[in-house]
Amino acid sequence: MYSDAFCKIYNEFGWNYFPEAFGEQLLAWLKEHQITVRTSLDLACGTGVLCEILHSSGIQASGMDFSEGMIEIARSRNPSIEYEVADMISYRPDKQFDLVTCTGDALNHILDLNDVEQIFKNVFGYLGAGGWFIFDLLNEKEIPSQEPFDLDFNDEVHSQFAVTQDADGVITLKTTVFENGRLQFEERIHEIVHDRETVCSLLEKTGFQIQKCSHQLLEDSEGEAATWYIIARKPLL
Ligand SMILES: C[S@@+](CC[C@H](N)C(=O)[O-])C[C@H]1O[C@@H](n2cnc3c(N)ncnc32)[C@H](O)[C@@H]1O
Repeated sequence: MYSDAFCKIYNEFGWNYFPEAFGEQLLAWLKEHQITVRTSLDLACGTGVLCEILHSSGIQASGMDFSEGMIEIARSRNPSIEYEVADMISYRPDKQFDLVTCTGDALNHILDLNDVEQIFKNVFGYLGAGGWFIFDLLNEKEIPSQEPFDLDFNDEVHSQFAVTQDADGVITLKTTVFENGRLQFEERIHEIVHDRETVCSLLEKTGFQIQKCSHQLLEDSEGEAATWYIIARKPLL
């Protein structure tokens, strides 16, 4: 769970660019494939950027996240979107959705593959028949930089970010924030790079059909993203 202080940093730092880009591409992909989505759920929705984009396109979007600070920011962004604070490993809403998303390497925050499998089973349960599950995963090329970097938010607030990886592959993002030279807080976020083949076989074991696993969501995008985009579908019958 992210602390409230880190949620504010996340919102100000500019990490929202990812769900913005993802949202635009997702809408283009849905249009290209003539898929109509009426209801959506964004798992680990963070500051609600993707929900806001889907809501603006006419979808009845909702989101959940287990960091209260993220949900507070998401609610203030758009109070008419439904948000819940919950852990996606145990979250089983009693509604069905046409689309479930999980972006910004949120699934890489789930360190244990048994928990990832449990999330897939949950999603399968609350997706309607023919519904889509679209998410991203860090890829093996996302080797963390060992070089810490600094960022000045303003004259008083200064932060340092450092990314390291241990022998078991666990990545730690350490954020340290100073105000007027005095330490304000330190936060460590842990992630892991899951093996793509293993993730895909867990999806298939759950009952999903894998429609796509690619470096790009859209066919005509250039280059290779540092992310895998996975599109899975719950069969119609
Ligand atoms: C890197 S942020 C991505 C947020 C958002 N999806 C985006 O693209 O900006 C990862 C998010 O995952 C959430 N998260 C991590 N583990 C979670 C869990 N077990 N259940 C729900 N949310 C979780 C964190 O609180 C955080 O908001």
